Amino acid sequence: MENTVYLETAVTLAQQAGDIIRERYGGNFGRGCKSGPSDLVTEVDRQVEDLITTGLRAKFPSHTVIGEENDKGDREQGEGCTWYVDPLDGTTNFVYSVPFFCVSIGLSCLGRLTVGVVYDPLRSELFTAESGRGTFLNGRPVRVDETRKNLSDALLVTGYPSDKNYGERLAGINYQRVIASCSNLRALGSAALELAYISCGRLTGFWENTLMPWDVAAGSLLVEEAGGRVTDLSGNPLALRRYLSIAASNGLIHNELLQSLS
Ligand code: IPD
Ligand code: CA
Ligand code: CA
Repeated sequence: MENTVYLETAVTLAQQAGDIIRERYGGNFGRGCKSGPSDLVTEVDRQVEDLITTGLRAKFPSHTVIGEENDKGDREQGEGCTWYVDPLDGTTNFVYSVPFFCVSIGLSCLGRLTVGVVYDPLRSELFTAESGRGTFLNGRPVRVDETRKNLSDALLVTGYPSDKNYGERLAGINYQRVIASCSNLRALGSAALELAYISCGRLTGFWENTLMPWDVAAGSLLVEEAGGRVTDLSGNPLALRRYLSIAASNGLIHNELLQSLS
């Protein structure tokens, strides 16, 4: 019952945030950089994060709320609940007017992902999951792609860090080998929405190795509740820590994916 209140609140806030993002998309907005010239932030990211985090804190005053643009290095509390908010996942796409970005809100309670919401405001696609209750797209249940059992048939997706300080981590991946092993490889520019696409079977597998908890909290639950598998790149259970590595898939290709990345 409580989880349902959490989910409903997250959905309402994600949709309100999405309305603002949709209105401002393609217009003029203030912008700047964070860790370097490629690590972009806009006034829309900040405006929308304020809306979501203020709403969550007002409704759940005992919860920890961690948002990307106000990150102070907070840790998930051992007891209680922590919200991870990425107000606009895919900021570079938003700035360049590439129509692929989303709002991502995830909740972890006692160290377990509990609720996940990913909202694509341009397509009005709302992905939701509650622990133990499955994944839904606009209210209809979805599953990962259970038809593709081999990496050779998989459409994979990955991403690249905008913080160039972590660019060297890409060197650990043999892209030539991965591309040769799968059907094809994409990089669409929004980790949360890419995970949502795995949950509904549009993509088969995903990996990235310098993500933050707000990039993956919601999307990981979407994938798991849709029958898929999520681990770090060594095959261990995913821990929501900073600069994490992640592999997510329909489950069937997971071991092959990890092997090809190792
Ligand atoms: C980024 C996106 C992108 C991923 C980057 C993230 P942001 O998040 O999820 O797909 O490759 O590593 O930083 O900055 O657009 O919220
Ligand atoms: Ca992000
Ligand atoms: Ca963001």
